[in-house]
Parts: sequence; structure tokens; C-alpha cells
Amino acid sequence: MSFPRELATPLQLGKVTLPNRVFLAPLSGITDVPFRRRALLHGAGMVVSEMVASGELARGRDNSLLRARPVGNSPHIVQLAGREAHWMAEGARIAVGEGADIVDINMGCPAKKVTGGYSGSALMRDLDHALTLIEAVVRAVDVPVTLKTRLGWDETALNAPILARRAEEAGIAMITIHGRTRCQFYTGKADWRAIRRVREAVSIPLVANGDISGEEDVRAALAASGADAIMIGRANCGAPWTSGEIAAAAAGEKTPEKPGTAAQRVSYVVSHYEDMLSFYGRESGLRQARKHLGWYLDRHGGDRASVYRGEILRSDDPRKVIALLQAALSEEAGPCASRQAA
Ligand SMILES: Cc1cc2nc3c(=O)[nH]c(=O)nc-3n(C[C@H](O)[C@H](O)[C@H](O)COP(=O)(O)O)c2cc1C
Repeated sequence: MSFPRELATPLQLGKVTLPNRVFLAPLSGITDVPFRRRALLHGAGMVVSEMVASGELARGRDNSLLRARPVGNSPHIVQLAGREAHWMAEGARIAVGEGADIVDINMGCPAKKVTGGYSGSALMRDLDHALTLIEAVVRAVDVPVTLKTRLGWDETALNAPILARRAEEAGIAMITIHGRTRCQFYTGKADWRAIRRVREAVSIPLVANGDISGEEDVRAALAASGADAIMIGRANCGAPWTSGEIAAAAAGEKTPEKPGTAAQRVSYVVSHYEDMLSFYGRESGLRQARKHLGWYLDRHGGDRASVYRGEILRSDDPRKVIALLQAALSEEAGPCASRQAA
């Protein structure tokens, strides 16, 4: 694999140095602390917490505090969602008090339960109001504040360049654009060319996001958008080394800690599973780990995994799950393995 060398160079945001320019996107319910630890270990240049509702964080709700927890020594970035400047500022102060090196503002979430409360991408419908949130957060903390948003609400309102310019004037240090509108949710294809209009509007670092996975996508997204960095989300599911692997390849290096053989993959998946059980506690961990196990089986199990999949995803007994994972993933996927399983 060959990737542009620039991706391997550091990016400076105030006093914070990001070691490279290939980031892990926040994915609520997926990129939790155990997942982000792995992505960092593999060399992702930046990981961001799942979105944390600012009001909930200010009220000290357990789930929000869990989401806002640091993942080690790397820059700790907490993403806040909300619709009121007061709570956003309060949430930002709490996040920084808990060790955040950067606060990120979510203006991209399309979910109805978020936009219905005028948070997430709904803020793009009222830029004056959106700016009150941005200004309040920038005033509240003395760490860099970044923004993650979309191209606009719908195709008749592609106002990301205006939002980005106003955000830069208000002191935002970096902006990430997911190349879709809110009304597209996750359908269609991300429009990397449309991100270039934001490039022309701001001089702060710009991050391109949406549908980036392999070598061709990385090159095309960078060329079309003119972005300084890329952020990758779903391509990391079942392969938390994806962002780090691209950064390492750009530097001409091997991906740190990437499991190479079937035996290494088994112990990798089992240790991710065990991390989740210990982070959430057995009952909640069991439930939350299932989607990850499904992705691992789909990506690395071949035909053989389908024999065990249902039982693995239904079982409430961690010892049984681990034994089944070993059976499902312990041989290189291929026609031979599937015949044996049958
Ligand atoms: C299940 C899921 C959860 C997400 N949660 C968040 C979130 O908490 N904060 C955020 O800014 N974006 C969130 N996103 C959007 C992603 O960060 C990213 O912008 C989007 O998935 C496009 O990138 P990708 O094609 O590389 O996945 C989420 C997306 C998905 C699919």
C-alpha cells in the first residue's frame, strides 16, 4: 500500500501535537474507551470520544462520564453535543477538568432524537444560534476547540463554508466535514469535492470524512477536498487498526500491533472482548461486545464463522463465547476451513 507521505506528518493544534493526520471518527456505541485504546495502539493520529450530551455531563450522569474518560497518554478529546450555550460551556469546563486536551463540538449528528432537540446537524439550520454555542465553548476553556459538521442540512442549504468561516473567526482550531448533508443521513456517497468549498473558506486545518477506507479513497478524498487530514469511521469496524495502518503505510512503516496470523487474530478478538467485559461489567459488556464480534466474524472468519455466528452472538456465557471464537477464527479463512466446519 502506498499513501501520501504528508499523512504521516504531525499536525499542531495550539499546544497539542497530533502525531499524524489519519484519525478515527467518533462512532457512538462503537468507538468507546476499549476501542479507542486499540486504535491509538495501532497508531491513529487522533481519537475522539463518542458524543457526550453536554447537559448530561454537567448533571454528572454516569454514562456521560464513562464516555468522557481518557484513554491513556495521547491527546484526550471529548466531543460535546447540545443546543444551549450555557450547557455546552459547562460541559466543556467539566471535560477539561477531567483532562480533555481538546473539546470537539458535534454539529453533524443526523439522528432524529438529536436534531429533534435542535442539537447535532440541526444547528446548521440556524447559524447565529450555532455561533453562540461555539463562542461560549471557546470562551469557557483554554484548550483548542474543534468542530465536526456536514455539508449542510439538505442540498438546498449547503452552508458548511459559511459556518466554517464564522467558526474560524470565533476561534475554532480545526474543522471536520462529513461529505454528506443531514438529510442524506448515511445514504448515497460522500461528496469529497463539495468539501473543497470549505477549504476555500478557511485557513485552519480541515479534515475530510465520509466513505474513506482503501488507498484509492484516501488519495481521491485528499485530492478532491484539499483537506489536511482524513478521518475514518466505519471502515475500522472489525479492524480497529485501519486508521493506524494508513498512517504507518504513509510513513513507510509496519502497523504497530496489527494481528497478522489467524492465531494472533483470535487472541486480539478475545482480548477486545475481555476488555469490554471489564470496562462495562459483565452484563452490559456482553451485550455491547456483540456488534464487534459480529464484525470480526464477518471480516475475518470466512465461511467457517457462519457455523458459529448465531451461538456466539446469543450466548451469555463468556467462557463459551471465547471457546467458540477460537473455533471460528483459529484457521485462515478459506474453502478448506469451511469444509472442515461443515
Ligand atoms: C453508528 C454511528 C455512530 C456515530 N456517532 C457519531 C458521534 O458520536 N459523533 C460524531 O460526530 N459523528 C458520529 N457518527 C458519524 C461518523 O463520525 C462519520 O462522520 C460518518 O460515519 C462518516 O464516516 P465513515 O464513512 O468513515 O464512517 C456516527 C456514525 C455512525 C454510523
